Amino acid sequence: MDMSADTNVVKPARRVRGELRLPGDKSISHRYAMLAAIAEGTTLLENFSTGADCASTLACMEALGREVKRKNGNVEIVGDGIQLQSPQQTLDCGNSGSTIRMLAGILAAQSFESELAGDESLSRRPMARIIQPLTSMGARISAAPGERPPLRISGGPLHGIDYQLPVASAQVKTSILFAGLLSQGKTRVTEPLRTRDHGEQALRAFGAELRTDRLTSIITGGQKLQAIEARIPGDISTAAFFLCAAALLPGSDLILDGLLLNPTRTAILDVLSTMGARVSALRVEEKHRELSGTLRIEHGGLRGRKISGAVSAALIDELPVLAAIAPYTEQGIEIRDARELRVKESDRIEVVATNLRALGARVETFEDGMQIPGGQTLHGGEVDSAGDHRIAMAFAVAALAAQGETRINGANAARISFPEFFTALESVLER
Ligand code: S3P
Repeated sequence: MDMSADTNVVKPARRVRGELRLPGDKSISHRYAMLAAIAEGTTLLENFSTGADCASTLACMEALGREVKRKNGNVEIVGDGIQLQSPQQTLDCGNSGSTIRMLAGILAAQSFESELAGDESLSRRPMARIIQPLTSMGARISAAPGERPPLRISGGPLHGIDYQLPVASAQVKTSILFAGLLSQGKTRVTEPLRTRDHGEQALRAFGAELRTDRLTSIITGGQKLQAIEARIPGDISTAAFFLCAAALLPGSDLILDGLLLNPTRTAILDVLSTMGARVSALRVEEKHRELSGTLRIEHGGLRGRKISGAVSAALIDELPVLAAIAPYTEQGIEIRDARELRVKESDRIEVVATNLRALGARVETFEDGMQIPGGQTLHGGEVDSAGDHRIAMAFAVAALAAQGETRINGANAARISFPEFFTALESVLER
């Protein structure tokens, strides 16, 4: 593998074998870091995400006056209650939609003005979805044309709302619940489909009371949070690249230790099982309301399938890698109801299709998804991450079963969620 510059060359592999322990889940790392900052006492987080996105969140919490110590993959955050300090400069959210959207919920209730900005990709992402509910809670927020970042937030006293989310988004749900914690009265958020529930579980872990009734979460404002000591389970969306590699290559047998197994995140395991992989979980435990355990996956055929409705929403971060291995499946994969893919770090429908075609695959795209016929042979070639971490990693996996080498341009994008990705992948490959 050529690690020079920003291009990685990935060669085909025979199978994956071995054991991996992944850095902490990105979704949980962001939430714990934000809640630690507004809790009372010092929070210790082991196995914090090593990704640049979560580093953006930590830097924002420092800019908001909180002490953050990083040591050997662990992070300590000294909380000091709900009142943060007015930042000296614009808060840099980098590439991270989670940082800007969830932090906005906390800043909406602060007694100062703040500005949140990010890189070129983040500056294209839609923010109306948080501006609207946070404004109706009492915040004043202005944005660039098209309701894009940068956001300028004039925080102040908020009041609870009863809100029906128009799009299934855990970031938005969490943002409103964080604002709800800092508001007067009750806040009710109802989502159209179940999305990851780490916001709810993190609030509970830090001592808040929160009620969940089917698709509605209810929080009462004015509750205090207490610091925690937690080990963050391995990121299952990062694991998805290794799981798909194992599902793809005959003879693969891979163990992932200490992996997040929260049922709102395990759709990838169900999907790979229905496609033929043998998946089993051992030593499952619950800590701070999050399940984790040791996961074993063995290759066992690779059928195709259709992915739509609630399954698409539950798999949103894993769809690029499923699409990348789709040409190798027996019947192909059809993805529908995944319009949200178009407003992620890149337009993941177009970028996946372009890259698959560059490797010789046939693909049809739709406004809300794509259809990739099975039984295809990819010839290797040159692809581009479009600056999107999940695209860089997805095509490293597709390259493993191609007929020649694949050059991945913009491979460094992997650092956004998993800087060690290419080394970790190499460590479990057999050629
Ligand atoms: C996330 C939710 C999802 C996901 C993102 C992380 C979260 O985004 O794609 O990577 O941590 O809540 P949306 O909430 O925008 O769907």
